[in-house]
Amino acid sequence: MNYKFSATALGIAGVSVALAVSAQPEPEPREAFAAMFGQVKPVAQAAIDAPAAKLGRALFWDQRLSVNGKIACATCHMPEDGSSDRRQFSTDARDKPTSRHSQPIYNSTLQTAGLRWTGDRASAAAQAEGSMTGSMGFETRELALANLKKHYDAKSFAAAFPGDADPVTIKNMAQAIDVYESTLNTPAPFDRYLAGDNAALTAAQKAGMRTFVNVGCAGCHSGALLGGTLQMKFGLTKDYWLETKSKKVDEGKFAATKNEADKHVFRVAMLRNVVDTAPYFHDGSVAKLDDAVRVMASVQLGRQLTDAETASIVEFLKSLSGKRPANYAPPVN
Ligand code: HEC
Ligand code: HEC
Repeated sequence: MNYKFSATALGIAGVSVALAVSAQPEPEPREAFAAMFGQVKPVAQAAIDAPAAKLGRALFWDQRLSVNGKIACATCHMPEDGSSDRRQFSTDARDKPTSRHSQPIYNSTLQTAGLRWTGDRASAAAQAEGSMTGSMGFETRELALANLKKHYDAKSFAAAFPGDADPVTIKNMAQAIDVYESTLNTPAPFDRYLAGDNAALTAAQKAGMRTFVNVGCAGCHSGALLGGTLQMKFGLTKDYWLETKSKKVDEGKFAATKNEADKHVFRVAMLRNVVDTAPYFHDGSVAKLDDAVRVMASVQLGRQLTDAETASIVEFLKSLSGKRPANYAPPVN
């Protein structure tokens, strides 16, 4: 475009044609990338309006469901932070710091390699159930249930669980939250590009997409979420903490399984909305995205990226941010 403009300005018609031809855009790489990645689709309004999704929304935003009455799920999964938490570690309902950094909720139910940093929860329902005796601070499941029953009667759960004689249970609570979380997908410019809209990405973002693939990031960060499908060692070519400067070495999956093969294994993080979810990594040890990209290249691929390559990848990653879902807010009664 620039070439054509300057050639025209010079008034040299022949040059203008030649340059216009050489400045023909490269063929769109859509098909190859669509096969490697994939789209996040918008959620139907009917799914958002389903009784279980509405109940899950109420529960997710309800501070009364924590032991100190001050912490809702959303407290550590803030809309302003892409449904994650800008704090390196969050503060739980017992006033203790969490052992790992918070993660985004948006699109999270689409992951296939388990939930949480180490993929140790099989589903969003299992994760929500575990939170009651974790972040939400109850000593036992029974105490969490007694508290739930204090605030929710059978009528409030009936529409979501029709035919259930005693619907107010921790299991149903977790199920409703799972249904709600599955309505929180964030289609982004990247998806519009894959769907056929060439103008959805800037030229720099398309170049960044190529850099991302050529450098080798997509070897792990593939699928519609650019991650969430594999568990891998963090630190394949170099101990990760040498680059992240982590204060404490987290052994990943090994901490729970004690299986040597699980040392420093974490789920490959999804990269949807990643520009909005700083700081980075399981311990929130890296504050800025360009530094996180450099760390990844160094410890996973044994490669030092140039500043131009790093900037190019970050430009691409910006195209993975979607809008905050309208129902990611406390319910309006
Ligand atoms: C005190 C802060 C805090 C609260 C409260 C909290 N979370 Fe989290 N959440 C976290 C942290 C930290 C992680 C990462 C945990 C890990 O991997 O060890 C996480 C992870 C998750 C994940 C996994 C996302 C993924 O990509 O795998 C989901 C889903 C989730 N939380 C949902 C919830 C729900 C539902 C509630 C309420 C019942 C809740 N959270 C309450 C801090 C919190
Ligand atoms: C060999 C597999 C592998 C490769 C290759 C790889 N990554 Fe990762 N990536 C991971 C794993 C595993 C994590 C989770 C690390 C953790 O738990 O702290 C991760 C995390 C990230 C994060 C942090 C996300 C967050 O929410 O905190 C970013 C950003 C990232 N990768 C970008 C890249 C980029 C860019 C490249 C290419 C330069 C790349 N990765 C290459 C496996 C890989």
